[in-house]
Amino acid sequence: MAKAKSKKTQAVEEKHKSRWGDVVDGQKQYDLHSGQSQIMKSNKRFTAAVAGTGGGKTVLGPLWFAKRVKEMVAKGKTTGLKGMVIAPTYKVLSRATAPTLVDTFRDTPLEGRYLESKGQYIFPNNLGILYLLSADSPNGLEGGQLDLGAWLDEAGQMTYSAWLAILRRTGVNQAPVLITTTPYLNNWLKTKVLDLYLKGDKDYMVVTWASISNPTYPKDEYDRAKRSMPKSMFDMMYNGLFTSMEGLVYPSFHLCIRDPNDFHDVDGRALGGIDFGWRAPFCALQGKLFVQDGRDVLYIHAERYKNKCKIAEHVKYMDKSAIWYADPSDPESIKDLRDEGLRVVPAINDVDFGIRQVNERINSARLFVSTSCEALITEAGGYMYPDCEEGKEQEKPIDGMDHAMDALRYLSASIARKRPRYRERQSVIIRRMG
Ligand SMILES: Nc1ncnc2c1ncn2[C@@H]1O[C@H](COP(=O)(O)OP(=O)(O)O)[C@@H](O)[C@H]1O
Ligand SMILES: [Mg+2]
Repeated sequence: MAKAKSKKTQAVEEKHKSRWGDVVDGQKQYDLHSGQSQIMKSNKRFTAAVAGTGGGKTVLGPLWFAKRVKEMVAKGKTTGLKGMVIAPTYKVLSRATAPTLVDTFRDTPLEGRYLESKGQYIFPNNLGILYLLSADSPNGLEGGQLDLGAWLDEAGQMTYSAWLAILRRTGVNQAPVLITTTPYLNNWLKTKVLDLYLKGDKDYMVVTWASISNPTYPKDEYDRAKRSMPKSMFDMMYNGLFTSMEGLVYPSFHLCIRDPNDFHDVDGRALGGIDFGWRAPFCALQGKLFVQDGRDVLYIHAERYKNKCKIAEHVKYMDKSAIWYADPSDPESIKDLRDEGLRVVPAINDVDFGIRQVNERINSARLFVSTSCEALITEAGGYMYPDCEEGKEQEKPIDGMDHAMDALRYLSASIARKRPRYRERQSVIIRRMG
């Protein structure tokens, strides 16, 4: 029989139970995991939490500002403090970064007023202000000097010029900068932050941890992700590791992956891409093209991916209102689909053009893919060029698991051909002289 726990053991266990925002003795308590506490202890000018999704990065921002306020007050600076909070887009700012900030400060001595339309969080007692901005608004990052510091949430999605603007705004006071982000490939975050830290630069500190370092992160979700995507992509998204993806056709594909809930309220033209197959899988990718101010964003929310199955069966899973771009080399299958009432157009099949279109979309945040499209995500993670000899021109990608890849390429190339790049027409009035 198990021994009954002593009162003392129970008390110790109670003390160590993870607390997150619970009020104990009139104070909000946050039991940080090891990676988080290393970040909070850092006194470096640049501190970066580069960690897996859901690992507890964003929650650190407000705690870090609370620490910074304390440090400034201890130095006698009790009014007019200035800090900045930056998210990559307005959507991330308004959905994740700002609400976390407001929630954390609620019912604490730092509870102030959040003026959402102005993008300002005003601390009480004239203590100071936080400017909340998204990095995609041009020039928004320019302005006066900060002393409290700057916090960049999901900084890996920001441009290098946004990073330079932050350096300018924190330079005079040598104000500290906190980065919280999942890793991204080949950008300034790797070369201008992580690499400097690894070379031993004393101004930098980087801490990395996996999603499951957060005791509340579901292990099942971590394991599911591990099964459903290539290792390099998983390491990046869930283990917080920069991985080498040399040879990948779509090296930044992981940037497009989003939660299925993000696709519910998307409106736009229903479109799809089809690669035919019998022994190999038939693949149909289903999405919507949302166009605003000449910028078109493709949201792919569903896939049909199955072999040895009749067209009539596939059609049950395909949107009748959509325009489908299909592999042009199989007119018979196109006819079969049309007979089933689908609107099908032979796709543009120019491999280089199609790949370029997909990469352009990825790199300009014009492609989003739901996590429900597991085959698409898996194929993208393994879609490679053959080892290329130096000086030789890049060949075509290696054949094999490329059915969703072809469907995606057909779709993107055909949209691009149909919708040639939007050009803004500007009229300039030329006044005639004399
Ligand atoms: N050390 C921790 N202990 C318990 N819960 C935590 C811890 N760190 C984070 N959390 C919880 O995990 C959730 C996700 O954290 P968040 O910071 O939003 O993750 P992300 O790394 O994706 O930014 C939050 O709701 C937070 O309450
Ligand atoms: Mg976050």
